[in-house]
Amino acid sequence: MPMPEHILVETRGAVGLVRLNRPQALNALCDALMLELGAALRAFDADEAIGAIVLTGSEKAFAAGADIKEMKDRGFADVVADDFIGNRWETVLEIRKPVIAAVAGFALGGGCELAMMCDLIIAADTAKFGQPEITLGVIPGAGGTQRLTRAVGKSKAMEMILTGRMMDAAEAERAGLVARVVPAAELIDEAVKLGERIASFSRPVVAMAKEAVNAAFESSLAEGVRLERRLFQSCFALADRAEGMAAFAEKRKPVFVHR
Ligand code: CAA
Repeated sequence: MPMPEHILVETRGAVGLVRLNRPQALNALCDALMLELGAALRAFDADEAIGAIVLTGSEKAFAAGADIKEMKDRGFADVVADDFIGNRWETVLEIRKPVIAAVAGFALGGGCELAMMCDLIIAADTAKFGQPEITLGVIPGAGGTQRLTRAVGKSKAMEMILTGRMMDAAEAERAGLVARVVPAAELIDEAVKLGERIASFSRPVVAMAKEAVNAAFESSLAEGVRLERRLFQSCFALADRAEGMAAFAEKRKPVFVHR
């Protein structure tokens, strides 16, 4: 992969860390950034040494949305021909390893939508979430009307999307949009610690757990429960399942080999 221009990539133990890094535009998600992000996520997904991925921005902004300056002169034919916004944005949904969004500052429009595409969100106490598209004469275009509604319910999603009002970290936690709020100075360390804990478990089992939870958003209850049962039963084909249960019975720590 050529050196990315708009993101910073590093590993912390078994955790892959991607930082959005366009400070001059509050990490607005231009096309080039989304392509770089997609490539970095795919590379971590393919790396056997990595068990979880943390996606973060800066102290001031996770991301202030799609790049308005890049978008402003596009016409209907352009966005249809390019399938804007789907084609470059949904890579995060194809990643099998858990992706944790660590959000400080603004997560607006496409920034909020990108965080919601991740498997879970940890917020700094400075985080602000919003879907301000209505103020620009558009509606959310990267899943905001669907994922925010599923996360916080119809009334709050409707209010935010119809008015552009932002929600602070405490409200986001109360509403169930974020898993946890932590002091801003501890955000990355907390997110990496969470990633490390996930990475300490069996990779195929983690992937199945993620798949099963995500199925709750795509299927009926009966279908979801059926998938869960089959995936649960599939765990019995793994050495890691035998090891996990044997270690419990023998009162020792399990050693998972990701097989
Ligand atoms: N696109 C392009 N540039 C952006 C941007 C965006 N989404 N958000 C901020 N910037 C740029 C600003 O233009 C400014 O650049 P200049 O210094 O060259 O003028 C720089 O980042 C710093 O921003 P501000 O000076 O505005 O910073 P602030 O602290 O005063 O305000 C803010 C912060 C409230 C987040 C404000 O920047 C803002 O409202 N940004 C736009 C938020 C928005 O509307 N997002 C939705 C985009 S549409 C979308 O995302 C569609 C979709 O569903 C996918």
